[in-house]
Amino acid sequence: MTKLAGLKLVERDADGVDLAFRADVLAGLAEPQKAIPARWFYDDAGSQLFEDITQLPEYYPTRAETEILSTRSAEIAALIGEGRAVVEFGSGSSVKTPLLLSAIAPSAYVPLDIAGDFLRASSAALAAKFPGLPVHPVEADFMRRVELPAEVAHLPKLGFFPGSTIGNMIARTATDLLRSMKETLGEGALLLIGMDLVKDEDVLLAAYDDAEGVTARFNLNLLARINRELDGDIPLEAFVHEARWNDPFARIEMHLVAREDVAFTVSGRRFAIAAGESIHTENSHKFTKRSAQLLLAAGGWEPRARWTDEARQFSLVLAESCAPRSAP
Ligand code: AVJ
Repeated sequence: MTKLAGLKLVERDADGVDLAFRADVLAGLAEPQKAIPARWFYDDAGSQLFEDITQLPEYYPTRAETEILSTRSAEIAALIGEGRAVVEFGSGSSVKTPLLLSAIAPSAYVPLDIAGDFLRASSAALAAKFPGLPVHPVEADFMRRVELPAEVAHLPKLGFFPGSTIGNMIARTATDLLRSMKETLGEGALLLIGMDLVKDEDVLLAAYDDAEGVTARFNLNLLARINRELDGDIPLEAFVHEARWNDPFARIEMHLVAREDVAFTVSGRRFAIAAGESIHTENSHKFTKRSAQLLLAAGGWEPRARWTDEARQFSLVLAESCAPRSAP
């Protein structure tokens, strides 16, 4: 039933270097405001550090979303119906995916992730929990349209995109992703998507700069990954983790700020950064009910239902893929 070897859709060179990773890092470090896309956090160490973040007292999103999934599962299941193939964008964490799968009686589970080892481990754990559920992991970059395994081609789909990962993208990129999700999932698809909410700035800053320093390690792991995978010599101790609230864009930003002037090499290229300048490593946009609806509509999805946790910190939206329309 299960096919845990999965499909591989990540391009590597002869040395095993992820070509998209190298291209993003070299381009991002050459910009005046250095920046690296947040999706590169998630190598195996980064995925593990993120799991640790979800356990922190300051990091409310995971608990809030889990609360919604567990307390509202009957309503959610009634709207989704039985027999859909669940396509998860990013491979499932230990708690949320089982909550969804046990509520809705799905016909298959297809996790998509670029972190191959983490994908295989979490797929195996999931398959063990749900004997009889076909699990088809796909190692892929879901920012582009993904060819789903033939076994699920004819099944109705539910996209699952929890965690407010959509918030990592600027509007333009988020819209592209929502549209490629439509293409990946096909006609009649539903999408269950987590979207974190705008709230008190201090609560947000603490969630992204925890007292234990786990988020700082998560941020710095990106530099360690660059050193390891792209033959870099970036001195990690020359950088400090910083979380900032960007109010006009309603987002938390994570930066790695240089403590001193630093020069380093990545993949044979030289880079320099001055003291006080930063590498921008993540945006985490926060939404209101309206801004969430507008973004989904721009990507071709019409909200059908919306739930929040008791403290109204986080929202979960069920949306339906809608046909293009020219009239208002
Ligand atoms: C996995 C993208 C939802 O933005 O809250 C957690 C990642 N970064 N702490 C988020 C993250 C720093 C997280 N997402």
